[in-house]
Amino acid sequence: MAKSSPTASEEKEEAITHLELLKKLKRINSLEHSLGVLGLFLVSVLFITSFFYLDFETVSIKLRSSGTWLGLHDPSLSPLSSSSSSSSSTTTTKTTICENERLGFLDEGSGDCNIFEGSWVWDESYPLYESRNCLFADPGFQCSENGRPDGFYTKWRWQPKDCNLPRFEAAKMLEKLRNKRLVFAGDSLGRNQWESLLCMLSTAVSKKSSIYEVNGTPITKHSGSLIFKFEDFNCTIEYYRSPFLVVQGHPPAGAPAGVRFTMRVDQMDWSSVHWRDADVLILNTGHWWTYEKTIKVGCYFQEGKKVKKDMSVETGYKKSIESVIHWIGNKVDMNKTTVFFRTYSPVHFRDGDWNTGGGCHMETLPNLDPVPVLSEPHFDTFLEVLAEHSNESHLRKLDVLNITDMTSRRKDGHPSIYYLGPRNGPASFRHQDCSHWCLPGVPDIWNELLYVVFLKKELIREGNARSPSGSPL
Ligand SMILES: *[C@@H]1O[C@H](CO)[C@@H](O)[C@H](O)[C@H]1NC(C)=O
Ligand SMILES: *[C@@H]1O[C@H](CO)[C@@H](O)[C@H](O)[C@H]1NC(C)=O
Ligand SMILES: *[C@@H]1O[C@H](CO)[C@@H](O)[C@H](O)[C@H]1NC(C)=O
Ligand SMILES: *[C@@H]1O[C@H](CO)[C@@H](O)[C@H](O)[C@H]1NC(C)=O
Repeated sequence: MAKSSPTASEEKEEAITHLELLKKLKRINSLEHSLGVLGLFLVSVLFITSFFYLDFETVSIKLRSSGTWLGLHDPSLSPLSSSSSSSSSTTTTKTTICENERLGFLDEGSGDCNIFEGSWVWDESYPLYESRNCLFADPGFQCSENGRPDGFYTKWRWQPKDCNLPRFEAAKMLEKLRNKRLVFAGDSLGRNQWESLLCMLSTAVSKKSSIYEVNGTPITKHSGSLIFKFEDFNCTIEYYRSPFLVVQGHPPAGAPAGVRFTMRVDQMDWSSVHWRDADVLILNTGHWWTYEKTIKVGCYFQEGKKVKKDMSVETGYKKSIESVIHWIGNKVDMNKTTVFFRTYSPVHFRDGDWNTGGGCHMETLPNLDPVPVLSEPHFDTFLEVLAEHSNESHLRKLDVLNITDMTSRRKDGHPSIYYLGPRNGPASFRHQDCSHWCLPGVPDIWNELLYVVFLKKELIREGNARSPSGSPL
């Protein structure tokens, strides 16, 4: 498997060149507006022409002709992610050797590998499915059906710095989920990830009619919950809409004027009774914790029977996370349920915000240079609460899908103006979606990480289920 031929590295160099070209092309296009010089225009034409000659298809064919082993196991693709394009062949060789020595995440001894630290790597074997073959994606996430012309955003896999990830195998995951319930609870970003997992898992099922919503609810209908059953495996993949994870409801009697709703930061969402017995539970919250979506519309925070009109959004968020952690400790049997908390999914609005005309249209490449970890307030608050509770034994079993940093580099993965469904055409530039993610796309990679952590836990569980002498029970 560890083949690394000079041809492979040459092709990789070429791939770099194409991406560099693409970047330059973008830069020149923006310069063009301000200068309007004919000479520059000609240079651009030259670039564009050469781009069409050396475009993505060419790269694809070349990479494909080198065999699929290039895809995941051969590290020769990963220098794409390195920031220095000028790396000499000697350093490349060194990196290759080094990367070959990476352990697989599921191998013994890789225990300390932080899979969330790493880089995005171009991989011709992606995406894991085509959206036209997946019946489970909302039209809002089917960017290519909605007219998005580029497909670059589907071609990136995640390469951890210190270990390699096994490739996602839908059949293996379904087998591990046999007779089990996997539950997502959270906001529409959780739904985005849930639909991604449905698409990924359904690739292993040939009879698509054996996958169905148990109450017959169509996926496009935004109801409180959707439960999809994979009949052959007697397993369900469920989604519960709960943007705050805690209860949002009517204010108590005698609440001050102007209080239209309250968020009960010390009370888990009523639907949590349905989540707590799941075998795998993936929680998320974050995008609704803003001033615009709470206090501004008359939704204040409540503790016990008291409305706290002075409580800030960030304090409300912090108290809710504490309630979630409390609930996990008191109501969830961590021996049965594998609990994941998926961290904040960053947004990428440029020149404005979601409600002031900001956008991410025409972003076609991730940020490949190492970027400073951007500070997301909710992310920091979450880590703070975890740290404060780090001496509690049940929390050591909580798995954090720490995707905020890696995801912040993917400004290219959002629907932008391509979220209205195939018949409605692109949306106005003034109203772009730079919060959710196109499918296939970034949430697939979160699910690959979910998959490997889940597999690792199963391995440990199976190991523990053996008698001390080492023979299976
Ligand atoms: C199907 O799975 C559920 C748990 O989700 C379990 O209670 C039930 O016994 C399973 N049915 C069969 C036929 O194994
Ligand atoms: C979970 O497992 C541990 C060790 O196997 C055991 O000590 C503990 O009592 C179990 N907890 C529950 C709630 O069953
Ligand atoms: C954890 O530490 C805090 C102080 O930092 C303490 O108040 C609390 O009782 C400790 N909890 C446990 C379970 O040890
Ligand atoms: C998550 O990742 C960030 C940087 O990517 C790091 O600072 C933080 O310690 C990580 N937290 C956890 C709980 O793994």
